[in-house]
Amino acid sequence: MRNIDGLSHVTGKSVYVDDLLEIDGTLYSVILTSPVAHGRIASISSDINHPDLVTILTAEDIPGENQIGGIIPDEELLASKELHYFGQPIAIVVARTLDSAYEIRDMISVEVEELNPVFDPREAYEKGKIIGSERQFELGDMVNAWRECDHIVEGKVEIGGQEHLYIETQGAYALPTENGYKVISSTQGPTSVQKIAARILGLPMHRVEVDVRRLGGGFGGKEDQATPIACMAILATHTTRRPVKLVLDRHDDLKITGKRHPYSADYKIGMRGNKIHAYDVRFFQNAGSAADLSPAVLERTLFHATNSYYIPNVRAWAVSCRTNLPPNTAFRGFGGPQGMIVIESAIDHIANELGVAPSKVQRDNLIGDGDEFPYGQCAAGVTLVKAWEQVEKDTVEVIREIKDYNATHTFSKKGYAFMPITFGISFTNTSMNQASALVNVYIDGSIGISTGAVEMGQGVNTRILQVVTNFFGLPERYGKVETTNTTRAINTSPSAASSTHDLNGKAALDACKKIRERLEAFLSERGFSDVRFTEGKAVSLDGKSMSWEELISAAYLARVDLAAHGFYSTPQIHFDKEREKGHPFAYHTYGVALITSTVDCLRGISRVENVFVCHDSGKLLNSNLDIGQIEGGVVQGLGWMLLEDLVFDDKGINRSGSLSTYKVPDIDFAPRTFVTKFLEVPANKLGLKGSKAIGEPPLMYAIAGYFSVRDAMNKFRTLRRGDYTIPMTNERIFMELYA
Ligand code: MTE
Ligand code: HPA
Ligand code: MOS
Repeated sequence: MRNIDGLSHVTGKSVYVDDLLEIDGTLYSVILTSPVAHGRIASISSDINHPDLVTILTAEDIPGENQIGGIIPDEELLASKELHYFGQPIAIVVARTLDSAYEIRDMISVEVEELNPVFDPREAYEKGKIIGSERQFELGDMVNAWRECDHIVEGKVEIGGQEHLYIETQGAYALPTENGYKVISSTQGPTSVQKIAARILGLPMHRVEVDVRRLGGGFGGKEDQATPIACMAILATHTTRRPVKLVLDRHDDLKITGKRHPYSADYKIGMRGNKIHAYDVRFFQNAGSAADLSPAVLERTLFHATNSYYIPNVRAWAVSCRTNLPPNTAFRGFGGPQGMIVIESAIDHIANELGVAPSKVQRDNLIGDGDEFPYGQCAAGVTLVKAWEQVEKDTVEVIREIKDYNATHTFSKKGYAFMPITFGISFTNTSMNQASALVNVYIDGSIGISTGAVEMGQGVNTRILQVVTNFFGLPERYGKVETTNTTRAINTSPSAASSTHDLNGKAALDACKKIRERLEAFLSERGFSDVRFTEGKAVSLDGKSMSWEELISAAYLARVDLAAHGFYSTPQIHFDKEREKGHPFAYHTYGVALITSTVDCLRGISRVENVFVCHDSGKLLNSNLDIGQIEGGVVQGLGWMLLEDLVFDDKGINRSGSLSTYKVPDIDFAPRTFVTKFLEVPANKLGLKGSKAIGEPPLMYAIAGYFSVRDAMNKFRTLRRGDYTIPMTNERIFMELYA
């Protein structure tokens, strides 16, 4: 089944927040932000004369609690006194036109008392500025392990952040209703918006309705950070009693919102024979100025600290450090990629030191069924070796060409790297693994499906429509996936953790089962036994049949309930944060990639050429969507590895806060060859219809892009070992080769 949004996307008919028809009298708002990275507000001059000015709202205008922190209450919606980052919201300008709102913003002057900022996570840690507590995962015996090693190396990894660059910027449209508010929000977390808006206004949650049609991309950037935007729009509606639109322009979006977390890490790795015997890693996460989702992101870094390898002795330590940057947040992979990059760097380092191919060390240490991860869960249903062998088989020729090329070229070199991935599927916060759905069958037989799932381009609505219509043996046109709305699907977890379709698809099927049971009971009274729903009909074992339309119409007249609520919660998962052990994931998604690249070593220019992927997606549910997620995820990850360089100056100002200074992947940058193969595997019981989650894992294949470029560079001149910095931009390639 094709993505149901495909046609409306390419014809420009898909509707996003800024495309909504506006109600007469709609007001427009923009956000006034902090001019310093750290300071105190001395005064705000808002004595402004402008014909279109409606109001300027500050912290004092918040009727409820000025607090948006989800995990830790440490973040104000609008800064009341202290300023923690350049770009932090201080006030909302509400005007009759958008242009006027910008004009008015320029007329406001904010006086501040500047304080010393901190931007470096290690410096923040030394000053005691940490968020939550330090965490440590342990396995085996780290006291004796090092003595048993033949070779040990140590090094350092610096990992940059990444801008989400969803095409649709953050935005919301808030409307006053008779006794509350409705907000149309570009959010991955409708319930978060509802909960925090209620807190800001001092109202019960039932007075706030949140509605989401779709997002023009979220990538984690709208899991938490769509909330304040929606809250500001609602606050302005609350004050003015008028509809208010707040859609950030690109520059404001880049300035105000947090990004992927930069990390600074130290590693020590030891080998005994061909086995990785001991691994010690310390992660300093740069959280920015508020907790946001950072503690959860940090935890996932630890979960993926050993990636796809079995290492018997491990100590993985991590801390979240508070700095004066925008609060960093969820981004595809959610801290997992940073964990994986460090172990891959350690493997690259020790392999180069020993003079063996890093791929040999990777291959020799792949985790297998029953092997324990440092967090206590054991690997199961592992398909890494199969995937590895497939990729190896598919790339024999490519690797031979690389060797020939390097033998005959002096200044241009080719490189390659393998990347196995093992990604845990479930929210690491066990309680979040739940979803609800509402399935309505109308009198004419058409079906309205509501769940907590948010469509952000990943195709979740397509998958849900596919499984629901299949369930009743109907063509897809019978079903429609409704907007995600907090009055139809309640207490939803954000659409995130790659778990959206598993959780919400299963909740929808639960509702479908209830309706089918009622229909079966109704049919059995009419002499139908062992009914199957197929090809638009209900068919009994003895061949009696009734069309779906006839059945629904008759069931309605007989007063059968044709609507059902469905619910799903992932079984068997748990995690004990005291012991740092448990079984946090329903299952793992596995796969292997090989990426090749060419580096012009005279000028320092890289080009990713081939990507080969062999992926375990369980029993395939929709390979079109899976391929889209794999290709998109890898290209997005390659951008992070090779192009995207976030630069904050010594005042904490984002100097890469525009698309002329922040380079993102485009179609020309994308690899010329992209081959994806899926493994034939048994159905995955904990996935939707036997499939596996696909949203985030493929991004991490792109880590091979970084190592393939380094491999090519090493063919020209051996790089400093134990010193890994991401992104490997062209500028950096040049500097590392010659500086
Ligand atoms: N794909 C598109 N096109 N747009 C997105 O915003 N977000 C990614 C991934 N793929 C995203 C995407 C992230 S961060 C997650 S967690 C998953 O999709 C969420 O959807 P899923 O849970 O249905 O996989
Ligand atoms: N992944 C994504 N988002 C989350 C998670 C997670 O594991 N936990 C809380 N929010
Ligand atoms: Mo995805 S980072 O879990 O929204």
